[in-house]
Amino acid sequence: MSATNTQEVTHDVGDRISWTLRPVISTRLENYEARRKEMRRVCASCHSEQIVERFFTSMDQGITLYNEKFGKPSKAAMDKLLAMKKITPTPYDEEIEWVFYELWHHEGRRARHGLSKMAPDFVHWQGFYEVAKHFYTKFLPLVRERSPQVAKELIAQESHRWVEKGMTKEEIAKMLEFYDKEMQGKRGGG
Ligand code: HEC
Repeated sequence: MSATNTQEVTHDVGDRISWTLRPVISTRLENYEARRKEMRRVCASCHSEQIVERFFTSMDQGITLYNEKFGKPSKAAMDKLLAMKKITPTPYDEEIEWVFYELWHHEGRRARHGLSKMAPDFVHWQGFYEVAKHFYTKFLPLVRERSPQVAKELIAQESHRWVEKGMTKEEIAKMLEFYDKEMQGKRGGG
């Protein structure tokens, strides 16, 4: 398994993995640069450098997007609510704890694993689509019920501001133009 011109066979399938995608917030593993380099050499046995670069760029960007936009702010909100005694220390006796759990453990993890396994349907429809839907329509209202201030901090990032402030006609037109350009010739049933 996995030998290349420069690497011995290994049965440790985690040897060249550079992220952990399991926790609430993904982190780089120890020596991730060396691990990534070795993994890239495996890919390069069959692929051009361009394919390999493109894959790791989109994977890293997707994981970072999940971490920064959803993972970190929602974890911070839960920590604050607990410290403020707005949720009890008992796990899973409140709806918000279930919603948070599914956000990172189900949909958020599916999106991240989908990125690492080249599975677009898991990245999008079973991943980020559900992360966003539940973040805005379930988690945010439950946070707001407990603390309007923590809810405000949860969506303080520029990327979430449209929720409160709405979008101008120009911003909507710009977004549609982006999709028209990206999806040229690809648009089917959505
Ligand atoms: C043993 C050879 C081999 C290795 C090693 C390999 N691949 Fe592939 N890869 C292929 C083949 C063959 C295909 C095409 C499969 C098909 O079309 O059914 C493919 C498809 C792909 C595609 C889809 C390309 C496209 O144009 O749709 C990507 C992206 C990709 N591989 C990335 C990687 C990455 C990243 C690694 C290392 C983690 C890797 N591959 C390791 C042989 C390999």
